Amino acid sequence: MQPDDPAPPRLDELGEIEAAVWRELECAVQGRGRAPPQTPPHPWRVGVLATRDGDGVDARSVVLREIDRASRTLLIYTDARSPKAQQLVQHPQGTLVLWSAALGWQLRLQVALTLETSGLAVLSRWARLKLTPAAHDYLSPLPPGAALDTPHAPPRESRDHFAVIAASVQDIDWLELDARGHRRARFGSGPSRWVAP
Ligand SMILES: Cc1cc2nc3c(=O)[nH]c(=O)nc-3n(C[C@H](O)[C@H](O)[C@H](O)COP(=O)(O)O)c2cc1C
Repeated sequence: MQPDDPAPPRLDELGEIEAAVWRELECAVQGRGRAPPQTPPHPWRVGVLATRDGDGVDARSVVLREIDRASRTLLIYTDARSPKAQQLVQHPQGTLVLWSAALGWQLRLQVALTLETSGLAVLSRWARLKLTPAAHDYLSPLPPGAALDTPHAPPRESRDHFAVIAASVQDIDWLELDARGHRRARFGSGPSRWVAP
């Protein structure tokens, strides 16, 4: 945007903003901005997922792979042996943080996490994924974080460790940074409301 461009119109209704948030999330999992098709990946395609690790906390980047708007659920792929997978089994609550400079929007999503390591949902996704280079991520003989003597991981094995994390969105904390005044709102199980930024 050029400095003299007028600021884009702002959404004023809480319902409109929540709907726009879900539309952006739907764009994000498709891996691209909304239009034109050549635009770079949506910045919400990669978020930071924080989990509880014993008495501490942990956080890491993850790719948002799929969304089910009706059940307010996001899917993330991972290695079933990864520390995050163990953490969320112990403490199934997490926070997913997303930021888009283009929108000026930060989302903090409170999510209930479940790990799926078997069943149709996992098998069908692995059947697709194993035909792609990304399959290597789930075929290492060593779990993520295992110590190595060299920078290179050992050759892949045939057994996969693919798993799906389902993140069910319980609460959305939306923050808009804008020169006309920052705004913040909460969308959860109760009525949506504005809150002080
Ligand atoms: C841009 C980016 C995207 C990533 N996406 C994923 C992902 O979708 N799933 C995943 O398990 N790890 C992903 N990773 C790796 C994690 O951030 C992390 O390093 C790894 O999973 C180990 O995390 P853990 O020790 O907390 O389990 C990604 C890393 C980067 C830099």
